[in-house]
Amino acid sequence: MAVSKRETDVVVIGAGISGLVAAKCMKEDGFKVTVIERTGEIGGLWTFREHDYGVMRCTHINVSKYNYCFSDFPFPEDVADYPHHSDMAKYIVNYAQHFNLVELISFHTIVTSVIRKGEKWEVVIKSVEDQGHTPQGTEVIYCPFLIIASGHHAKPSLPKFLGQETFKGEIIHAVDYKDPLTNGLVGKRILIVGIGNSAVDSAVDCTTVGRCKSVVISTRSGAWIIPNYIFGFPVDLYACRAFFLLPWRWANFILERIIKFVSGDPRRWGLNPKMRALQTQPTVSPTLIHHIQRKNIKIVPNIAKIDGDTVHFVNGESGQFDNIIYCTGYKIDLPYLADDMHSKVLDEGSNNIKLYKNVFSPALGPSLAFIGFVQPASGGVLTMSETQARWFGQICRGRVQLPQKHLMEMDMEMEMVAQKDRWYSSARHTIQRDPIVYNDEIASFFGAKPDIIKHPAIAWRLLFSSCGAAQWRLQGPGQWNGAAKAVQKVPLTDLMHYSGMAFALFTGMILLLLLYIMWYMMSLLFENFIV
Ligand SMILES: Cc1cc2nc3c(=O)[nH]c(=O)nc-3n(C[C@H](O)[C@H](O)[C@H](O)COP(=O)(O)OP(=O)(O)OC[C@H]3O[C@@H](n4cnc5c(N)ncnc54)[C@H](O)[C@@H]3O)c2cc1C
Ligand SMILES: NC(=O)c1ccc[n+]([C@@H]2O[C@H](COP(=O)([O-])OP(=O)(O)OC[C@H]3O[C@@H](n4cnc5c(N)ncnc54)[C@H](OP(=O)(O)O)[C@@H]3O)[C@@H](O)[C@H]2O)c1
Repeated sequence: MAVSKRETDVVVIGAGISGLVAAKCMKEDGFKVTVIERTGEIGGLWTFREHDYGVMRCTHINVSKYNYCFSDFPFPEDVADYPHHSDMAKYIVNYAQHFNLVELISFHTIVTSVIRKGEKWEVVIKSVEDQGHTPQGTEVIYCPFLIIASGHHAKPSLPKFLGQETFKGEIIHAVDYKDPLTNGLVGKRILIVGIGNSAVDSAVDCTTVGRCKSVVISTRSGAWIIPNYIFGFPVDLYACRAFFLLPWRWANFILERIIKFVSGDPRRWGLNPKMRALQTQPTVSPTLIHHIQRKNIKIVPNIAKIDGDTVHFVNGESGQFDNIIYCTGYKIDLPYLADDMHSKVLDEGSNNIKLYKNVFSPALGPSLAFIGFVQPASGGVLTMSETQARWFGQICRGRVQLPQKHLMEMDMEMEMVAQKDRWYSSARHTIQRDPIVYNDEIASFFGAKPDIIKHPAIAWRLLFSSCGAAQWRLQGPGQWNGAAKAVQKVPLTDLMHYSGMAFALFTGMILLLLLYIMWYMMSLLFENFIV
């Protein structure tokens, strides 16, 4: 069969949120964009599928809609603070339709190889059979710019425990968990491994919807469980610049006090975190602790060995189980990259990516951007992907330049050291970043970091409130006229009011003190002068 060839300005691999927002930014920068998507839908993992990659039936996003949204396209007001995945999928489709992105996408098409050919990228794509779609063949696209947005939750990470092969029941990974009915778990004894968001969502689902006989979570590192709401407001609304200006250990001290104040010491519930609260990907659940308190869910340490239907844990306890769900996370996977490129970008063993600011490989140059290869700690990846894509657009247009190769490499080394101090050592934290800090840094490279002096009407919000996604559209290329209004619509927590009041009070007191000192000095001078 003849292989057809064509040219475009930019190829985007993947039509999840990262690929879509990247396509939109590049289109707005005047480029001809082609998006390649393996499935028949947009939205990546936010499209619920009965038998494929995607969210669980119960998934609600765990970041509020103010911080997990496109910066110039707020969520409708009638959607809940934490939208269900179906609302999220609808919102993504509306975004793609509103900005005419759907026509840019080749669905049911997979990228099988990417190599550098002279000044261009050669992207080989293949039509795939999917949901009755008949494959059309292979095609080659040449382009000067390439965006990889195929998602960092690409490949399930599977542990191997001693004696695992003797287990009599079924073992699945979270990627295959949809709900207790679909997975045949009703009334069964369930062991869940891991304590990330997949683990707690499926544990609560099994104990409630599945009325499972027993639900046990086995965790090797423990966790700080953060409720969706603290004092009546979505928890991510407390993340603000003032908080991240503090040394992280001080900020952590505050966060841990608040968690203990609201939910009690995690050790009381057997959660036994081995890391500080601000050193890990937050596990957000409104009900896990409630179910632990009712003894519907039990927490145990890591698995020592499996023997038939009996699982032994490292503390000497054991239990019988019918099913095991490995909620042990995902690995980055870039199977279409040529071998020499692959080793320059990804260290598969450690799940480390070798990218400058999580976007550019110094070895591969500025014409290739990795969008969405960053894990947000206190907000959503959506704004981070968008800021990265806007930066890439400016670089491709020649308005902004990357530092020299050796400077980028030096920066990466320094960042690696800082990362090791900041995050608990685990494969799930290799690309972890604080979104406000990260977005500010990337936006500062092309003039979109919100300048507090330039926006006096919302200056206080920019310091003490989370402000939502629109804050990075207040200025710079791609500025959005509705941004300030959107920032003002993000709810202010009571704590922000108090911190603002405390700040105003503190500043007032300092001013009064200064005035008093000036008055005192003047009076001394005046007395000496008179004498
Ligand atoms: C169950 C689950 C729930 C989550 N919930 C949250 C949350 O509440 N809040 C949060 O901040 N984050 C959440 N995340 C993290 C999540 O990864 C990101 O928020 C985000 O959805 C990732 O989007 P993406 O576009 O980068 O990747 P994806 O959504 O994974 O999209 C990648 C797209 O690329 C396509 N693709 C892959 N390879 C190829 C190829 N070779 N050729 C063509 N197409 C390809 C895929 O089909 C897919 O459509 C969740 C993750 C999981 C696994
Ligand atoms: N409702 C939602 O919004 C929602 C739902 C699901 C997932 N998500 C998101 O999706 C992403 C993936 O979440 P996830 O929960 O699937 O994975 P994850 O956050 O990577 O958590 C994996 C868990 O498995 C443990 N683990 C990994 N390997 C192990 C091993 N060999 N033995 C024992 N334990 C092991 C980890 O412990 P260590 O810490 O010790 O490594 C960790 O507790 C995250 O970004 C998450 O926020 C969101």
